[in-house]
Amino acid sequence: MTPPAVETKDLVKVFERGRRTIWQRARREPDRRERFRAVDGIDLTVQSGEIFGLLGPNGAGKTTTMKMLATLLIPTSGSIRVLGIDPLARPREVRARLGAMLSGERSLYWKLTARENLEYFAALYHVPPAETRPRIDRALVAVKLADRADDYVERYSTGMRQRLALARALLPDPPLVILDEPTVGLDPQASRDLRDRVRELRAQGRTVLLTTHYMEEADQLCDRVAIIDHGKIVALDTPAALKRTIRAEEVVHLELALEGDDRAVLDRLGRAATVARSERRNGTLTVTAHCASAREFVPAAFDAARSTGATIHHVEVVPVTLEDVFISLTGRALRE
Ligand SMILES: Nc1ncnc2c1ncn2[C@@H]1O[C@H](COP(=O)(O)OP(=O)(O)O)[C@@H](O)[C@H]1O
Ligand SMILES: [Mg+2]
Repeated sequence: MTPPAVETKDLVKVFERGRRTIWQRARREPDRRERFRAVDGIDLTVQSGEIFGLLGPNGAGKTTTMKMLATLLIPTSGSIRVLGIDPLARPREVRARLGAMLSGERSLYWKLTARENLEYFAALYHVPPAETRPRIDRALVAVKLADRADDYVERYSTGMRQRLALARALLPDPPLVILDEPTVGLDPQASRDLRDRVRELRAQGRTVLLTTHYMEEADQLCDRVAIIDHGKIVALDTPAALKRTIRAEEVVHLELALEGDDRAVLDRLGRAATVARSERRNGTLTVTAHCASAREFVPAAFDAARSTGATIHHVEVVPVTLEDVFISLTGRALRE
């Protein structure tokens, strides 16, 4: 039986906040920095051949998790297996089987061509010389850059550079590819294009583990998603199954203008639907409500507003998204 592509058990990473000054060290003062758990007990099993997403807001611990899998950070506790191998005991074997595109590690040489960049990294990654040329050609084809291989990277668009960074990750011909926020900073067209390349990796039989804070990306691209917040997995399933956990047919976003207290209107709205989230900014109250039927809830919302002295400025009925799943689990929006 093939082992899972990734398996973690009670994975923990503790960081200290802030820096210890040289004086504190010289005087051997006790370390009083606050310790916090950036990754706080993650159990994860990524099956071979799936596209698995870690979805969570900034600071959730996604990159830290990826770095531990990629042998770039040592866990505080817990265990990891990558393709059945323990990265702490056998880091080289893990690195040889893993293609990683991590943030902060995307630098390419702008004064070199794409092919020259890949030749340089192939040597760095110990790709056997006889295999270098075919691997580079395959990687360039996989990211659709074969016809631009001899252009200087400085002439590339952001999307092309990102694809070249992906080609670099493919040089070891890895069965497992891990991508940290692969589409961050790309325009919609380039993002779609990169997602297509990722789907092709799965079609080639590779496993992909990626992180994202874009709920649409997790929804469209991933076979399964783990929603992560404050270093913990708060939900894990297929996107469809996660959305079914929202016991509502429709989601209504309301924007109300009101003066004074908002408790009365929230109370009234809460009788007609589940108020998943509300936020007050000066005279504007925004509300996300989960309801069985928007046709019944929206008129009730207008009544609620009128009877409490509020005015509804904006109503929008939207289908359930992974954002609603996140909100219902944490009471916060992904972007906050
Ligand atoms: N080397 C480090 N030292 C101290 N804190 C860190 C370090 N790396 C990350 N952190 C903190 O750990 C938390 C999780 O960070 P990260 O894994 O980068 O989150 P994400 O990728 O989900 O945005 C954040 O609060 C971040 O500031
Ligand atoms: Mg990150």
